Amino acid sequence: MIILRKERIYLEKISSTNDYAAELLYNGDKNTRVIIASEQTCGHGRLGRKFYSPKDTGIYMSIIADIEEIKNLNLLTSLAGLSVCEGAEEIYPAEYKIKWPNDILVNGKKICGILTKLINDTSSQKISHAVIGIGVNVNNDKEDFPEDIRDIASSLKIETGIYENKSVLTEKILNKTDELIFSSGKNDAEALEKIKKRSLVIGRKVFVKNENREYLVKDISENGELIVDDADKNKLIFTGEIIL
Ligand code: BTN
Repeated sequence: MIILRKERIYLEKISSTNDYAAELLYNGDKNTRVIIASEQTCGHGRLGRKFYSPKDTGIYMSIIADIEEIKNLNLLTSLAGLSVCEGAEEIYPAEYKIKWPNDILVNGKKICGILTKLINDTSSQKISHAVIGIGVNVNNDKEDFPEDIRDIASSLKIETGIYENKSVLTEKILNKTDELIFSSGKNDAEALEKIKKRSLVIGRKVFVKNENREYLVKDISENGELIVDDADKNKLIFTGEIIL
């Protein structure tokens, strides 16, 4: 069954769509819907990093999902990443790669970041909802990016030369999330294979920052963890920052 998340809340300017979505949930509003902003003043990513979110040039959205509708919570961030790759590919032909765990790169530059947040029900203290935050640089020009990220970040317009209204991509991504994250008919193993094919890390030596050491990445597990070689034994890496 495809559950199309039809209800949208459009905001001109907000600190962060993820924070806004979490706030709604904490205040008891459990509606599953999509929060979309034209601009974020305090967009953020993993590890407390800023996500550059200037007016109108990017997609800044958060999908509020009931935990019961999510097929595979462990793969949630990866499936959201795959949704962006497959949605974008339909409009902007390019090679979309996933840098574990949550960045999408085109031509080696980051065009999208994903930040998922799990929310506990206030009375049961069990995870009840997920907020899937997706930020995509769509129509930025190179000089729009602050100097400190100009060499590592890019936009779909820069990388493909295509200008398209960003709402077209928003809908494509949301349709893909319906298919990949929420539809019970689809095959997770198939999705995992697609994620692996786009992986920038499998078969490479990467530096794992929080462990301060290098590992060879052998695979990605069915739970989305990195399987690395640790003195000829497999070791799982659940989270962290890697440097290619
Ligand atoms: C990252 O790069 O580590 C993840 C970036 C996630 C950015 C999106 S934009 C919409 C949502 N609101 C936020 O504050 N963050 C996410």
